[in-house]
Amino acid sequence: MPNFPPQNLTIATTGASGSLFLKHLLLAVERDRRVQTVNFIASDSALRVIAEELALRGRNNLVRQLLGKASRKIQQQSNDDIGANVASGSYPADAMVIIPCSMGTLARIANGIASQLIERAADVCLKEKRPLVLCVRETPLNKIHIRNLYRAADAGATVFPLIPTFYNRPATFDDLAREFAFRLLAHVGLPQAQAYRWKG
Ligand SMILES: Cc1cc2nc3c(=O)[nH]c(=O)nc-3n(C[C@H](O)[C@H](O)[C@H](O)COP(=O)(O)O)c2cc1C
Repeated sequence: MPNFPPQNLTIATTGASGSLFLKHLLLAVERDRRVQTVNFIASDSALRVIAEELALRGRNNLVRQLLGKASRKIQQQSNDDIGANVASGSYPADAMVIIPCSMGTLARIANGIASQLIERAADVCLKEKRPLVLCVRETPLNKIHIRNLYRAADAGATVFPLIPTFYNRPATFDDLAREFAFRLLAHVGLPQAQAYRWKG
């Protein structure tokens, strides 16, 4: 059974809009002492979107660029390396988050097409009954997207759309993305002390 709260997280990023949400999730897990290991995977399209949205360049030193410092906790894996640790159910990953999750990656996961590491690691989570959280982003949704969302949810994934809250009155995009990361972490069992709490 996976550890709860999770100590070993897989965080993947794909080519949908919303790189700032990824950045704030990585910053939060880097700070969180309950999390001991993070395997981080970026698709080629994610690199393209990150370059566009955060003006960061290239695959090398991506974690350092996103965090603003090096990390010993967050290890980058190649999406081409189907032999990486998280490709096997015998590796003790506790939960996986894909943020943002493109409709292409959703489609491959929902249909069991595990040709690259991100989809294989997600496939492993589903077969091992481990938490898999898909922070999908697209608008509008076509019927293929909607069917794939249903198929992924039906197979055990949590569909956690990249939809931020506004009742906490975020003053900046960073506030908005940070709060989303906190909600996501609370969902996987890692509530954050700094998170906004609605008091009614
Ligand atoms: C700037 C930019 C923004 C994009 N935004 C989205 C998006 O929000 N949702 C989506 O599903 N695809 C989006 N795409 C298209 C995906 O990147 C594309 O379908 C890609 O093949 C997904 O590959 P991946 O799933 O392997 O990362 C965007 C592409 C670019 C260049």
